[in-house]
Amino acid sequence: MRNLIVISLFLFLTSWFQAQEVPNDFLSADFHKGRRQEVRKAMPPNSVAVFFAAAVRNRANDVDYIYHQDPDFYYLTGYKEPNALLLIFSEMQKDKAGNNYDEVLYAQKRDEKAEQWNGKRFGVEGVKGQLGFERAFNAEEFLSSDIDFSKFENVLFFDFKNDFRDTNDPADIFDLIRSFKEKSNYPSDYDATKQQLYSMIKATEVENSVNVAQTLGRYLNYYQELKSDKLLVDFVEAEDDRSRIEIKEKVALQLKSNNLNSAKLEEIMNTLREVKTQEELVLLKKAVEISAVGQIEVMKAMHPNMSEMEIQGVHEFVYKKYGAEYEGYPSIVGGGNNGCILHYIENNKPKVGNDLVLMDLGAEYHGYTADVTRTIPATGKFSKEQKQIYDIVYNAQEAGIKASVVGASFQAPGQAASKVVAEGLMKLGIIGSPMEARKYFPHGTSHYLGLDVHDKGTYEAFKENTVITVEPGIYIPEGSNCDRKWWGIAVRIEDDILIAKNGPVNLSEMAPRTTVDIEAVMKQSSPLDNFNLPSLD
Ligand code: GLY
Ligand code: MN
Ligand code: MN
Repeated sequence: MRNLIVISLFLFLTSWFQAQEVPNDFLSADFHKGRRQEVRKAMPPNSVAVFFAAAVRNRANDVDYIYHQDPDFYYLTGYKEPNALLLIFSEMQKDKAGNNYDEVLYAQKRDEKAEQWNGKRFGVEGVKGQLGFERAFNAEEFLSSDIDFSKFENVLFFDFKNDFRDTNDPADIFDLIRSFKEKSNYPSDYDATKQQLYSMIKATEVENSVNVAQTLGRYLNYYQELKSDKLLVDFVEAEDDRSRIEIKEKVALQLKSNNLNSAKLEEIMNTLREVKTQEELVLLKKAVEISAVGQIEVMKAMHPNMSEMEIQGVHEFVYKKYGAEYEGYPSIVGGGNNGCILHYIENNKPKVGNDLVLMDLGAEYHGYTADVTRTIPATGKFSKEQKQIYDIVYNAQEAGIKASVVGASFQAPGQAASKVVAEGLMKLGIIGSPMEARKYFPHGTSHYLGLDVHDKGTYEAFKENTVITVEPGIYIPEGSNCDRKWWGIAVRIEDDILIAKNGPVNLSEMAPRTTVDIEAVMKQSSPLDNFNLPSLD
């Protein structure tokens, strides 16, 4: 008995001390399976949904960009490799051997040589064993499969962006898409935008068709090439309900001419991905908290001799330290006037000097990305003008966060924030009428957040367990039509807000936001105060 205890203890300790090879807090196979089930439930009868893995994209010569899975594909599979295809069927299918199945993953084939160079592949066994798929094949088996897409009433898919290319791999994404097109009789002139607009017209109630026609008219003015489509133009120009009904019938006929449907999947995935499960929220909160810690560490380390790039590096080092694999989008660090460029990513100013520094960065942790912005004075103290602008943005953000409640319109935070910005700029004499505020606050206030930084969602009234950003800003570029003392001041404050049952929860609140709190943290010492590297000049 004693021996048994000693042996068990030994085994326990050896497993304890064994290095863990990979993190173990990814989304579970059950999560992905549950999401596929939700897609299936939302699919029309007798349909198949086809999802492709993201393409590998070339950076230069024989170097590719770091591979990033398509977020929908990841959400539904957990598979992070390229050259793969997922089929979900609305009803059970039966193969020739009599096996039932309602989903199939075609995965990248294992290849010893390729894996020696580019890393391990799951292969069919891994997909079955680790991702929990009951039915999986090598991708090349899709090419030779006799799947009959014509038997389905609807073949649901996202249309292709044509940014994939053929490689030496005989079953890469290029080949999979080509094979899908052949098998599904994809017309060479298929136009997904037109299909989506047709679907919209078909779904429009007669009572609402005047509004839809007006919206469509604005759309056609923007995308002139669509004006060559007679049905779309006729619908916009129709003068009475009878003509609109006639066009709706013609549109329905056109849609019936093939079973390809590139509109429905968009709607299904927007609805599903908008509301986060508890499992997703754990990862998303972690990404946000990591990003908030990055902001705190930079506040402590900041000094006027720092470069924008160095500031970026501090944030990103913190992310890696916590195991966040990537940045969710290119990091933005803009000193002074550079902050006025909304997506400034050069980050190449050698010294931030006395500038306000706008830092918009988000860690991506196991697929989920944060999106947090803080704007701080490089000197550690806001000037009078900087503080005046900052406080308007702060108050606008407070109003926006307060409006982020279940049931409110998606526009509510933006409307609340814009009002505060306009009033504030008027009061300082920077603008003469509220209409002019848009010049200094030219972007939206909110977007969904999740696997994508600008995540999928319906943009309808807020639902419980959605996560949005609230990010007002004021940007006054050099040369603006106002007193020069405001020139070069750019402030954005961006937080990630969980819309919970009992009200908004600020997931990034750990990063100080008021001018007083920011100045207090900037007085603290940083481990980087003593991080001196040799000069290479
Ligand atoms: N970082 C991009 C955005 O704030 O939407
Ligand atoms: Mn944002
Ligand atoms: Mn941002």
